[in-house]
Amino acid sequence: MTAPAFFPQDIIIRKRDGGALSRDEIDFFARGVVDGAFADYQATALLMAIFWRGMTPQETAWLTDAMMRSGDVIDLRDLPGAKVDKHSTGGVGDKVSLILAPLAVACGLKVPMMSGRGLGHTGGTLDKLEAIPGFRVQLGVPEFRAILQRVGCAMIGQTPQVVPADRKLYALRDVTGTVECIPLICASIMSKKLAEGIDSLVLDVKFGRGAFMKKKEDALTLAHAMVEVGRAAGKPVRALLTAMHQPLGRAAGHTTEVVESIECLKGGGPADLMEVTYALTGQMLILGGKARDAAGARQQMEAVVANGSALKVFREMCAAQGGDARVVDDYSLLPTARKKLEIRAGADARGFVSEVDALRCGHAIMALGGGRAAVTDRIDHAVGLADLIKIGEPVAPGARLCTLHANDEARAARAEALIREAVKFTPAPPRQEPLIHDLVQ
Ligand code: URA
Repeated sequence: MTAPAFFPQDIIIRKRDGGALSRDEIDFFARGVVDGAFADYQATALLMAIFWRGMTPQETAWLTDAMMRSGDVIDLRDLPGAKVDKHSTGGVGDKVSLILAPLAVACGLKVPMMSGRGLGHTGGTLDKLEAIPGFRVQLGVPEFRAILQRVGCAMIGQTPQVVPADRKLYALRDVTGTVECIPLICASIMSKKLAEGIDSLVLDVKFGRGAFMKKKEDALTLAHAMVEVGRAAGKPVRALLTAMHQPLGRAAGHTTEVVESIECLKGGGPADLMEVTYALTGQMLILGGKARDAAGARQQMEAVVANGSALKVFREMCAAQGGDARVVDDYSLLPTARKKLEIRAGADARGFVSEVDALRCGHAIMALGGGRAAVTDRIDHAVGLADLIKIGEPVAPGARLCTLHANDEARAARAEALIREAVKFTPAPPRQEPLIHDLVQ
């Protein structure tokens, strides 16, 4: 037996004492968590040391690269066209991927998208897609590639062979208080995205009540770190910082979000959701060489919504992934809740909506049974929120705050209480905060 190149304890001690790790040490760590050379207790000790001591941009880039190479890296170079993806750090009502991928394909890009599931108060793209009867998200790489070639986009879950180091490390971070660490978040997200075979990437880094990052400064630091890692990997990456204080759009849940996404592709989407979708897709079109600037991109996107070609791509992707594409014309084919309960403002409601707390709305969805507290939990796709009132809208007694789609009365009562806490009023129109903040590139 040959002696190991390193002893895990030496690597842990170096980081514990504030030193920088070498590329070989970082490679040994990422490989070691998969092949067992780094035991779980040693990996968690190193994660905690990284949490406290941080990593230099160079160490973060090496960790990302080592994690990416811990498994299969999809090679899409033989597929013609620019392959551009988008990743969001997650929020409530964030169904942008469902609209953006068909939109970008209709404008000439290819969109290979590996997405995640919802956890806690935030939703996940895979769960939303699974509200469509028959839709399969667990495809192997050959089928993923074939659909990309034929349709232009495919949306799947991470395969077990892609970035196994992240699967292991994320599970350890989740139970050892080491999730909220910028170099670790950056390496986790970017290793998975770079393993997809993309040419370039757009990031939606969210901040606010309903986001993973509560403070804008933290979101900005993460955005810079991810753009930097993209640069080190030779892939252009742009990040938009977007506010996530209230849910995006007027729907949150699974069926309700699929319906809202299809409405967007038919040209009837809510303004805030379309603003974020057009901004992110526009950046993809610029990176993919399909538009010179945001204004040119916007014209193209509006044209493919107006002429139905973006909706056509959505139908084709649905059918290609086994989903019932008739849902596009008949929403009753989606899982439907037994009750639709309108929540109306009380007698004292006057003025304008000043707050629709995205975190409480996310908790309301969980209360209805539409969220996951643990990765193994089953979710009810039929339940959720629709017709949600937005910040700045006028209110009077009896105004509708939202419609609950519920399957259980006790759960609906808990969700109603959370929605009533989430929505606040003010006598004068509140200051409207911008939705899209910085562009980092
Ligand atoms: N999402 C990820 O994929 N990884 C993290 O570390 C945090 C959010």
